[in-house]
Amino acid sequence: MTEPRPPQAAAPDRETRPHTLLDDDGFEGKVPGKKPALTTGGQPAFFSCWDIHAYYGESYIVQGVSFDVREGEIVALLGRNGAGKTSTLRAIARLDNPELRQGELWLDHQPLHEMKAYQASRTGVGLVPEDRRIISGLTVQENIELAQIAPPHGWTVERIYNLFPRLGERRQQEGTTLSGGEQQMLSIGRTLARDVKLLLLDEPYEGLAPVIVQEIERTLAQIKDLGMTTIIVEQNAIAALHLADRAIILDMGRIVFDGKSQDVLDDADLRQQYLAI
Ligand SMILES: Nc1ncnc2c1ncn2[C@@H]1O[C@H](COP(=O)(O)OP(=O)(O)OP(=O)(O)O)[C@@H](O)[C@H]1O
Ligand SMILES: [Mg+2]
Repeated sequence: MTEPRPPQAAAPDRETRPHTLLDDDGFEGKVPGKKPALTTGGQPAFFSCWDIHAYYGESYIVQGVSFDVREGEIVALLGRNGAGKTSTLRAIARLDNPELRQGELWLDHQPLHEMKAYQASRTGVGLVPEDRRIISGLTVQENIELAQIAPPHGWTVERIYNLFPRLGERRQQEGTTLSGGEQQMLSIGRTLARDVKLLLLDEPYEGLAPVIVQEIERTLAQIKDLGMTTIIVEQNAIAALHLADRAIILDMGRIVFDGKSQDVLDDADLRQQYLAI
């Protein structure tokens, strides 16, 4: 565990973040248990998930998942209901459940697998959970400020309002009285208020009207253009595939596909088999 970095007024911006990864050999063929290669072929990986196994009690759910993500890349993590998508995100964020019993997780050279959830958050893992977790009794602005109570800080409140003007207009409104789409924006905005290096989005479009989905899609595209490294889980696979550079498909806790998003869009059989679309 390293010391938290000093507070940053500026956004998490990859231009300002020096890349120090030195390892340049391939990911394939590595022996589980050895230090993972922090690389993906030609370019260095920013995040590596190496042979992780996670359990709810004795239920064995995440069964040896390995993948890596380059800096600034967006990866769609897809699969049917119960495939283990949320469990994989929770394991990465180091929440207590599911329990990570084996494997390694590296973010920008930091060993997440040795950390608790609060340390992973301080290291730069920002999980936007499916249920959004807006704090009742607090205004929109107070929800954001609460996220900034301790360093390392990410975006300022004003920058978050620039990204989501609806939140700025409703800054004094109680967060839980927002519409579903606005609550999703607040949940994302609040996460960006911390210094995020890896954004984990669990079903950001769930339960939202198509017009709101489009609005959030446009915002996520803006965040992508800023170079934010992101893993998005979404039942709306087509929308996620349009946003993402790469797709990983999980089935029964294992990876069955890791490749270009376009290849999934082009492969009706693959989509039918694992995504039922
Ligand atoms: N708290 C829990 N305790 C026990 N089993 C759980 C728990 N949470 C999830 N599971 C089980 O783990 C498996 C994977 O669940 P997970 O929520 O990761 O799937 P998912 O891919 O996110 O599905 P969905 O698309 O429905 O959100 C499922 O079989 C589920 O029943
Ligand atoms: Mg889920």
